[in-house]
Amino acid sequence: MSSTEKINLDSFCRALPKVELHAHLNGSLSLRIMKKLYELQHSDGRILMDLPNIEEPNSLEECFQLFPIVHSLTSTSEAVFIATCDMIGEFYDDGVIYLEVRSTPRAVDGVMTKKEYVEAIIRGIITSKNRYPEILVKYLISVDRMKGYESAKQNIELAIEMIEQYPDYVVGLDLSGDPSKGSAFLELLEKSRKAGLKITAHCAEVPNEIEIMDILNFKPDRLGHCTCIHPTLNGKEELFQRLIQSNIPIELCLTSNIKCGTVPSYDLHQFKYLYEAGHPICIATDDKGVFNTSLSKEFELAARHFQLSQDTLCQLTINSVKYSFASEIEKSRLTDVINAFRFQSVSTVSNTK
Ligand code: IMP
Ligand code: ZN
Repeated sequence: MSSTEKINLDSFCRALPKVELHAHLNGSLSLRIMKKLYELQHSDGRILMDLPNIEEPNSLEECFQLFPIVHSLTSTSEAVFIATCDMIGEFYDDGVIYLEVRSTPRAVDGVMTKKEYVEAIIRGIITSKNRYPEILVKYLISVDRMKGYESAKQNIELAIEMIEQYPDYVVGLDLSGDPSKGSAFLELLEKSRKAGLKITAHCAEVPNEIEIMDILNFKPDRLGHCTCIHPTLNGKEELFQRLIQSNIPIELCLTSNIKCGTVPSYDLHQFKYLYEAGHPICIATDDKGVFNTSLSKEFELAARHFQLSQDTLCQLTINSVKYSFASEIEKSRLTDVINAFRFQSVSTVSNTK
């Protein structure tokens, strides 16, 4: 690719109105936001931990070692509120028009309850509507598989309470956490589905055939990653075929999987096999702060490594709207915005030929 083509692709990916369906709040905080939160703790005289030099992770284990550092900066309602507003602002600056932010309710003894944590995020989303009116934001409450049954139950009950109270903002549940530990708590997730919450589950970040089958049989509304399913990525042909049959949309986070070392190179990412099979997929960032990426960069990487045309990038974005947990009216409006961009960029290209 020539340098002019690269610049064209860069600016196209930045200008494209994008849809982010897989972003963990604390993993999405840039160094700039972390420094701001650190300064805030300093001015309050409440330093919990010095901000160490944050190195990019090289393995799943190193990735999970970074989260406690970020969590030490979001340990009050005020800090969670600021983190939410600033994270939304950065996605907005990157041209994102729809964002589903997910985050695990966290209590801090004597400082914040899980409910206060969740309400701080909702306050952040509501405040951001005035600051950044062109981005629509929803919240998925996370269940951390590592934190045990009681914690999972609390988060699910909180999510059910919150969807009743804030149906415009809280729309779903996310199963996440260190994939090498804990359990998927599928029996608990069933309860939240009955309450109207959509469900997305991290799946197959590490090889685990029994859990993969359990998750596929549970039929979440979306899946995250689905890495160790294809035979070339520590999976099996039967598992891959079962995934394809399920037709469940998959959130794919290229850089996250490379930096965690679960995929050896961009060219060999499961994106290739899923895209070739015509499976529903969407491009997402996972933890843009921890992995030093952006949604525009992820689109650019996908376009370069899998030879996607600009029109295909538009189509992938329109598909993401379809797989989102927005209402039908919201989906229709978002699709119109992307189609307007699509037709404008097609006519600009033909006018310059
Ligand atoms: P939070 O939920 O806003 O605190 O975001 C950080 C949390 O997201 C981590 O503690 C994990 O539970 C979860 N998380 C972030 N990235 C990943 C991933 O790649 N796989 C599984 N869980 C993740
Ligand atoms: Zn994730």
